[in-house]
Amino acid sequence: MGEDDVSVSLQSERLAEVVPDVLNAIHEVLERHHVTEEEWMAVLAFLTEVGRADEFILLSDVTRTSVLIDALSHTEDGGATASDVMGPMYTVEPPFRKKIYEEYEGMSPDDDVLFVRGRVTSTTGEPLPGAVIDVWQTGPAGGYDVWDERQPEGNFRGRIKAEEDGAYEFQTMLPKPYTVPTAGPVGRYLDAVGQHPWRPAHIHYKVTAPGHRTLVTQLFFPDDPYLDNDTIGAVKAALVRPVEKEDDHLTCDFDIALAPA
Ligand code: BEZ
Ligand code: FE
Repeated sequence: MGEDDVSVSLQSERLAEVVPDVLNAIHEVLERHHVTEEEWMAVLAFLTEVGRADEFILLSDVTRTSVLIDALSHTEDGGATASDVMGPMYTVEPPFRKKIYEEYEGMSPDDDVLFVRGRVTSTTGEPLPGAVIDVWQTGPAGGYDVWDERQPEGNFRGRIKAEEDGAYEFQTMLPKPYTVPTAGPVGRYLDAVGQHPWRPAHIHYKVTAPGHRTLVTQLFFPDDPYLDNDTIGAVKAALVRPVEKEDDHLTCDFDIALAPA
C-alpha cells in the first residue's frame, strides 16, 4: 500500500465504522483481565520498540493476523490458485533468470538441486504468455540472502517470464525450515508466550499478468516437520506439492491459475 492509499483509507467512512469496535474490543479485554497501569505501560513500551525495530509486519505475521487478513481479502478468487501472505522478505525487481542462485560457502553436497515448473493460466484455462513469476526463498543454509553474509546480494531471488503456452521453469535448491528473526522485540514476545519461531520450508511467489489479479502465494513441500505448526500459520493444504527425484536432481510441479482483474 502506498502513502496515498493509507491517507485515502484513513479519511474514509471505514475509519468511523471500524475504530469504535477496535477500541471496544481492547477496552473489554483490559476490563476482563483487570490489566494494571504497569502492565499497560509495558505494552506501550513494547509496541514502541516494535516500531523502532521495524517489526510490525513480523508481529502481524507471528500473531497470525496477516493470515486472517489474507483470507478475508481473497474470498472471491473462484478457481484461482490459493493466495498466501507475503511476509517481510520481498525485494522489488530481482533479475530475470532461470537459475535463481549462486553457490556459496555453507552449502553441503547433500543439498538438493530443485527444478520447479508449471503453467500459468487464467481460471478458465487459457495460457498467460508473458506472465511474470517473481520468486524468493531461503537457501539450504543460512536463511535469506539479507541475513547471511556468505550469500551474494539477491541470492535465491529471481523473475521468470512464462512462455507462449504459459509454461515456466526455474532452477533452485530445495529450501529448509528456518526461524523468523528472534533478536528483536518480536523474538522476546515469542519467548514470552511460548511460541516457537519456525517456518516450514517454502518458496514465495508473486505472479502478475495483464488483466488478472496479482497472486501472492507460497509453495510448500510434504514431510516438513513444521507443516502443521508454522509459526505464522500460513500453510494451506492446496499449496503443498510433491517433490520427485529425477536423475541427479529433484522436481516439483506447481501450476498457477490467476483470477480475472
Ligand atoms: C517469510 O516467510 O519470509 C517470513 C515470514 C514472517 C517473518 C519472516 C519471514
Ligand atoms: Fe519466507
